[in-house]
Formats: sequence, C-alpha cells, structure tokens
Amino acid sequence: MSMLNMNFLLSVGVAAAVLPVRSFHATQASFGGGHSADQSPTAPKHAVRTKRPDIANPPKHELFNKILIANRGEIACRIMRTCKRLGIQTVAVHSEVDAQTLHVQLADEAYCVGPAPTNDSYRNATAIIDAVRQSGAQAVHPGYGFLSENNHFAAQLEQLGVTFIGPHSGAIDAMGDKIHSKILATEAKVNVIPGYNGVVKDADHAIKIAQEIGYPVMVKASGGGGGKGMRVAWNDEEVREGFKLSAAEAASSFGDDRLFVEKFIDNPRHIEIQVLGDNHGNVVYLNERECSIQRRNQKVIEEAPSSFIDPETRAKMGQQAVMLAKAVKYNSAGTVEMMVDSKRNFYFLEMNTRLQVEHPITEYITGVDLVEQMIRSAANRPLSFTQADVKLNGWAFESRVYAEDPTRFLPSIGKLQTYAEPVDYTGQNLVRCDSGIVEGSNISIYYDPMICKLITYGPDRQSALQTMREALDSYVIRGVTHNIPILRDMIDHPRFISGDISTKFIQEEYPTGFAKRELKDLQLHHLLSTAAALKATELVDNVSFQSKVARQDVVSEVASGVEAQEYVVLLDGAPHRIILSSVEGMSQVEFEDGSKLAVSEDSEAPTNHIRVRHFIVEEPCEHEDEELVDETAAASEDVEFEDSHDHISDVVTIQNLGSIPGGFKIGYLGGVYDVVFLTPREYELSKLMPKKAKADTSMMVVSPMPGTVVTIAVAAGDSVVAGQEVAVVEAMKMQNSLRAQRTGKIKKVFVKPGQTLASEELIMEFEKE
Ligand SMILES: *[C@@H]1O[C@H](CO)[C@@H](O)[C@H](O)[C@H]1NC(C)=O
Ligand SMILES: *[C@@H]1O[C@H](CO)[C@@H](O)[C@H](O)[C@H]1NC(C)=O
Ligand SMILES: *[C@@H]1O[C@H](CO)[C@@H](O)[C@H](O)[C@H]1NC(C)=O
Ligand SMILES: *[C@@H]1O[C@H](CO)[C@@H](O)[C@H](O)[C@H]1NC(C)=O
Repeated sequence: MSMLNMNFLLSVGVAAAVLPVRSFHATQASFGGGHSADQSPTAPKHAVRTKRPDIANPPKHELFNKILIANRGEIACRIMRTCKRLGIQTVAVHSEVDAQTLHVQLADEAYCVGPAPTNDSYRNATAIIDAVRQSGAQAVHPGYGFLSENNHFAAQLEQLGVTFIGPHSGAIDAMGDKIHSKILATEAKVNVIPGYNGVVKDADHAIKIAQEIGYPVMVKASGGGGGKGMRVAWNDEEVREGFKLSAAEAASSFGDDRLFVEKFIDNPRHIEIQVLGDNHGNVVYLNERECSIQRRNQKVIEEAPSSFIDPETRAKMGQQAVMLAKAVKYNSAGTVEMMVDSKRNFYFLEMNTRLQVEHPITEYITGVDLVEQMIRSAANRPLSFTQADVKLNGWAFESRVYAEDPTRFLPSIGKLQTYAEPVDYTGQNLVRCDSGIVEGSNISIYYDPMICKLITYGPDRQSALQTMREALDSYVIRGVTHNIPILRDMIDHPRFISGDISTKFIQEEYPTGFAKRELKDLQLHHLLSTAAALKATELVDNVSFQSKVARQDVVSEVASGVEAQEYVVLLDGAPHRIILSSVEGMSQVEFEDGSKLAVSEDSEAPTNHIRVRHFIVEEPCEHEDEELVDETAAASEDVEFEDSHDHISDVVTIQNLGSIPGGFKIGYLGGVYDVVFLTPREYELSKLMPKKAKADTSMMVVSPMPGTVVTIAVAAGDSVVAGQEVAVVEAMKMQNSLRAQRTGKIKKVFVKPGQTLASEELIMEFEKE
C-alpha cells in the first residue's frame, strides 16, 4: 500500500482550481461513420464565470501540438482521426512488417520500432520512447493492449516530461492487481463479490474460505486475466484440485502464484460502466455497455445501453463506479467492469485503466468523443460537462469482425483480396466501421486477427439491430475466412433479439462451434428468387454475371424478355423446382407451394453485393391435405409470410462470390451457398452420374492453419482414442489443441515441436486397420 500512496501523492500535486464550466457540445456527427472527422465541436461561445483566460477551452493548438500513438491497427487510426479533427499532428510507430499499413499512412510521421513480434516492437518501451524523443511528440496515446496498462511506461514518460494520455501511473498500478483493486473497491463502498480479500495461503485455507462463502466458488489468480488461472469449484474436493491447478497455471503464465477465492455468480451478465475523470477531482459516468456475448472471455458483440438495466440500477452502478474512480484520483477514460446476476445485483470485477475496445457504442449514445476527452484531461483541462449533462440517446451495437473460421473458432490469416466496408443504407451516419486495413492488407500471424469493429446506431434496439443486419450483409471480405456467418446468425437468434443473454450465450447456443445456418421458407425463397433474377439477367443479356457486376447494373429491368422456363435449382445439392418468368419488367419465380415472388433491384449497390426488393405476387397455397402440411413442416414458420402482408416487399442483400458451372456462389445472411440451375432434363441426367467419393481424411491429423508446433503428445506406435489431444499448434498468440478424430494407432509423426507449419500440413497419420 505504501507504494500506491506515494504514486497518488505525485498526481495529487497537480490539482488546481476547478472551473465551473458547462459546455457539453460534442456531437455524434463528429465521429459517426468514422471517416467524416471534420464537423468539429469547437470552443464554445459562452463565457466562463471567471475573468482569467479561458483555461478550460483555449484555442485548439493549446491542447498538444503533436501526439505519438503507441499502437497499430484500428485503434491507432481511430485516435488519429480525432487528433486530426483537433488540429494535432500525429506520429505513428510501426513494426517492420507494418510499414505499409493504414495507420502509418494516416500519420504525419512514422518510426519503425522493431521486428514483427510485439515484444520486439509495440511492447518495447525503450524503442517507443526513442521515437517520442526523435519526433518531439509532447504526449503519447497508448490505445488499448500493448503498453496501455504498463505503469512503468507511463512513469518513464512522466519523468521525461511527456504526457501519457491515460490515467496517472498510480491508478494503473492500483487497478492492475486484482487483490489490491478489490480492497480499494471495498473501501470505496463498491459492491464486491463475496470472497476473501487477501492471499489464500494453501488448499486447506481455500476450502475454509469456500465453506464460509458457500458453494459454488471460483478460484482465481491474482495477476490473471482473460480466463487464465480461473476454476469453478462446487465442493471441497474441487477446491483442492482447482487450487493446485490454478496455482501452477498462474505461476507459469504470470510468474505470480497468488490466488484468491470468491463466490461464483451463476448465469452472469457482463455489464461495464464508462467513467471519465480529470486532474481536478471531477469524475462522471457515461452509462453502461453490455458485453455478455463472449467466447473464451473475449467479447464478440456489445451493446449500449443494456436491455437488462433499469434507470435505478444504472444510477447505482454509475455512482459506485465514480466512487471507485475518485478513490484512486482517476483522471482519464476508464471502465469499471461488473458482473450482474439475474436479480440485478451487481458486483465489481475489475477496472480497465485505458480506452476500451468497445468505446464507440458509448460515443454513439452519449455524443461524447472519448478520445478527445482523454486528450483534454491529459492537457490538464477540467471536464467540460457534468453528470447532469450526460445523455443517453438511442441504442448502439458493436460486432467484432475477426479473421477466423467460425465453424471451428480458429484464426485465419492471409491477404484481403477484396475488401469493401458496409454501405450505410440509412444515409444518416448510423453505421461506423472502425478498421485499420484496406483492400490488399495482410492479416498476419503476429497480431490480433480483428478485421474491424462494426458499430450501428438507431433510435431503439430493434432498429439498431436491423441496421447491423444490413451492414453485415453488405460487408464484402474475401481472401480470409471471417466470423460474419456466426455474427449474422447470433443477431437473428430469438434469445439475442429478446435480450435474454448471459456470458454463457455462445457456449449454450453454439456448443460445438457454428454449423451452417438453416434457412427458413421465406429466406430460402428470397435466396432462390434472387439467384433466379441473376440467371434471368444472363439469359436476356447473354452477359456473364461477373461482367454485369463490374458494370454495376445487375438486375434492373432485364427480365422482361424471359419466357417461362422450368428449372431444378440445386441449393448446395438439394433440388428445388421453380418456374422462372417475368412480370412488369421484373423477373418472377413461382415455387412448388404456389407462391410467387417478383424481384427488382432496390438501389445501386457499389460493388460485389446486390440489393434487391422482393414483391409477393402470390401467397403460398393453403393445403387442406394434412400430409402436405406435414411435409413442409413449416406451418409455424409461415408466420413470416403472414407478417409480410403488412409490408408487401422485402429488401434483401446478397453477395456474388463468383460463378460456378451452371450457377453462382452466393453469400446470403452470412452463409455461402452454391446455387446451380438445371433444366428438368439436365437434372434427370445428373442423377445418373456417379458420385465422387470423398477423400478419407480421418486417417491423418493436419494443421488447420499456419502456425508453430508447440507440443506433440504422441509418438509412432502409440494408441489413441477419439477426442484425445495429440498436438498443440500455436497461431496468432492462441494455442490450439488438435484432437484425434478416431481411435487407433499412430503410424508416423511428421513434425517436431518448434517447427513451423503450413495450413493443411500433415502432422501425423494413423495405421490402417
Ligand atoms: C513477451 O514478454 C513477456 C514479459 O515481458 C513474456 O512474459 C512473454 O513470454 C514474451 N512473449 C514472447 C512471445 O516472447
Ligand atoms: C527494444 O528497443 C531497444 C532500442 O531500440 C533495443 O536496444 C532492444 O534490443 C529492444 N528490445 C527488444 C526486446 O526487442
Ligand atoms: C503482405 O505480405 C506479403 C508477403 O508476406 C508482402 O510481400 C506484402 O508486401 C504485404 N503487403 C502489405 C500491404 O503489407
Ligand atoms: C452468347 O454469347 C456467347 C459468347 O459470349 C456466344 O457464343 C453465343 O452465341 C451468344 N448467344 C446468343 C443467343 O446470343
């Protein structure tokens, strides 16, 4: 504690008179869309109650002249946009492989700080401080990750007289340790999870504490994070086991084997409060963000506000977060993470002393540019608004778009061959895409595989969600595998739509990863009729669909010459009979159930995606026949048809992912579908063709991605059972366990630990039975 107090004293020294200023004027437009950075909230016109010079709002250049951003990717770009708007020069640092990246291009100057591995570049404080000296930057914004919560780095800058745009190093220090931060929280009268606020001596001590708290309990590493060194225990025996394992894991991961024990919260939601403080003792809270949708403790979809929090709980959570921030003289943007149970009891988890990845959703609902506020606080300005000025307008969602295979949750790397960010069809700046990449960029094994943060906004939850659906549908990413399929599926999940979520949502709803989406009747019809419209375009114009896309006039007024023609459409191999014809200049498709949809182009989509409007020409036939009703098994799902009585037409966005023999590869609702058109005669003939046998890969273990072999758990001659771990491969900072798909004997192992692997490289093979 004495170390902490000393650090606090250092920062208390700068406290000055607090000016009563009210100038809450940052606007949403100033950052909406992420690229239009010029509508600047300038210094306010009204006066301050003092005759002294306006310290709170001096001309822009008095903030800082030059800021170095000690980060890469989207967050470096995002910070630079605000700097540019404020008229501040920007300095980028980059690793050797990042010399061509967007954040380097956006900056006024750039310095190489070392080779690709982050320890040798973005985490090398010495190299970054050299760049600070050379560039003459007056301040450093660390972004998130890397050096953002490194109090030594912050202290080194303080010594140099360079401003760290973040909290004082004492606050970072205090909150960086789980045990200390919990003690501080308790002292600040913040709700903490019932537990033992000290270092647990041994397994017997842990059991005694667990019995006092009541089961279930969680055994946690003091220095841990991201789920490492954590174990849930439901009885004494599990506490003993968990203590042993967590201590070993903590020692090897953090070089710190201290553990603590606390109550385990069942069915928890992760809800966090954004706070903002200054050097003058002011702290406000900017409402909450719900981040319950997580996978392996990584957030995937966030929203603000939370659908679960009522105004009373919000105020209580906010007030406690402010009390904690004040207890450490918090003087920047920070986040107090809380766990909320099903009765809206909330408990302090930890405080993140930096800008949070998901900060944009708070910016949308409050109209505050958090990076600007951090810069102002760092420049010793008092906050320009009070708690009463903080707004809560509308609803925002953020989807984290990752380069990863959603069916197996494995990272994917490569070059972004085609990349077009979503189109904001609302035309109202309701879509913001925070990314650090462009077409042609590499997603490399060295860094976080996040492609972008896609944020949408609306007056209410459902409209923000609908905008998210359309944005995901029009987001074109080729060259790397990405997680849009599962994002798109999750936001259509009835539990998600109703807000019935918890941190276990993905685990409960996608226990074995994400399988391909099942299309409902109307969705199926939309896909088939859109594909048929493309087919009609080809028929009429005798131009390949690819070249039509290049000319950007895809479906409009093309089908008038089509004569009624019957097709068997194979959707991923499954046959569907349709009759393609035309009506009033649109193509029209009649389905087996008698329903008819007409299709026209809705609006000119830029490239690679097609936006069409479907008109219901004929409802599906009502079948009295029980058998038929059963067969379609869709009586309940026909609700969708009934719904669409109200709005006659539906707009659907699909993506053309290329031609295949006889048809198209189509991206729809996040999934990829092969759609092939056959005449009835061709279909009959195709049934006579022999099927190609699928290669049997179960005799081999191959690397699912490029990476490095960490361990090989078996040797030639060993017997293994299906599901047994046989090797661990590391890629993009993640260790992936490879498991045997079958029971059998290992014939040969082809690789050694330390060896680098190409994707699909053979690791070992089984003996034939
Ligand atoms: C990076 O450095 C940290 C300590 O500073 C160390 O724990 C970690 O293992 C290093 N990572 C790599 C990949 O070398
Ligand atoms: C960090 O940078 C300094 C100065 O450029 C260099 O001497 C040192 O070797 C670097 N350290 C690492 C771990 O790369
Ligand atoms: C992407 O990586 C390749 C090979 O590693 C390299 O040649 C190319 O310059 C990189 N492109 C960019 C934009 O960094
Ligand atoms: C369609 O175009 C192909 C070549 O692009 C040509 O061989 C064929 O004769 C054309 N068909 C009609 C009906 O114009």
